[in-house]
Amino acid sequence: MFKILAFSTLLVLASARPQAELISYSHAYGNDSQTIKAEPATVVVNNDVSFGQAVDFSAATSLTMLTCLKKANYKTVFVRALSPAGNGVFDINAVTTIRNAYSAGLGIEVYMTPQPISSLQGYQQFDLLYNGLVNNGITVRAIWIQVTSPANWQKSTSININFINSIIARAKQYGLTVGIYSNQYDWNQITGNWVTLSSDILLWYWNVYGPGVSGETKPNFTDFRAFGPFKNASVKQYGQAESVCQITVNRDVYAVGIPSMAKSSQEASAFSKNGEIVVGGFVGN
Ligand SMILES: *[C@@H]1O[C@H](CO)[C@@H](O)[C@H](O)[C@H]1NC(C)=O
Ligand SMILES: *[C@@H]1O[C@H](CO)[C@@H](O)[C@H](O)[C@H]1NC(C)=O
Ligand SMILES: *[C@@H]1O[C@H](CO)[C@@H](O)[C@H](O)[C@H]1NC(C)=O
Repeated sequence: MFKILAFSTLLVLASARPQAELISYSHAYGNDSQTIKAEPATVVVNNDVSFGQAVDFSAATSLTMLTCLKKANYKTVFVRALSPAGNGVFDINAVTTIRNAYSAGLGIEVYMTPQPISSLQGYQQFDLLYNGLVNNGITVRAIWIQVTSPANWQKSTSININFINSIIARAKQYGLTVGIYSNQYDWNQITGNWVTLSSDILLWYWNVYGPGVSGETKPNFTDFRAFGPFKNASVKQYGQAESVCQITVNRDVYAVGIPSMAKSSQEASAFSKNGEIVVGGFVGN
């Protein structure tokens, strides 16, 4: 069994790009102009307690799939809750996936893939995500904003900065922890290497050689180099387009949050208030 994943043709082969980042397809912008087979991921052997293993995806999932992920030693899932379709829309798969992940005992983080070319401002797209979750009884404590695939952004870096700022300001107004999902190349292209971002913004960076197991980099932060405003990383995406438990996912490692709760902090139950599902707060810095 294998899954077919659709990729956009954003094969940005910019010469300035570091060698390790030659492929800039965007897994989050489904486009079937290029299809590849997602090969099975290698087994997680989690013997490094300072890292949690995670996957990120936007596909619809079942409880069986998420229970399988938990058994396969994944601690947390990063679930897309805003899709860049149209002007940016709440991701209808998110609520079911979050409920299933909660039932499976997985930690849950949510990310948004905003639509920078939209009649909706950044904060309005954030509100679609936030209200979509809250109206379904889900408490949101953190948000990750995807800033990748420069071709999908405005040409003006100052417009892009204002757009990102609009999302961050709204999320902070609601008391959320905010993280950015990007890398040095994307950040430079999209924001012109914006450095004055507030230092409390977390970073989830990606580095892969290409899709599949053979395109993976190390599942730790040893390849991280500071860029833009980011001195440290909290999450790394080290694999893309692999199949785990019949879901096509990207693979991540993250610094575990709340040291005093190190053992239980990744358990969704530790973040439950009166049975209410809480997303965000599983990642440290
Ligand atoms: C997919 O990408 C190609 C090339 O960029 C584009 O022409 C096509 O319209 C896209 N398809 C969809 C469904 O977005
Ligand atoms: C990072 O991962 C690689 C490959 O698994 C391993 O050889 C290396 O020792 C790791 N580095 C650290 C600092 O954990
Ligand atoms: C973050 O950076 C600081 C120095 O700027 C360093 O002391 C700390 O160990 C780093 N944390 C991680 C998780 O790498």
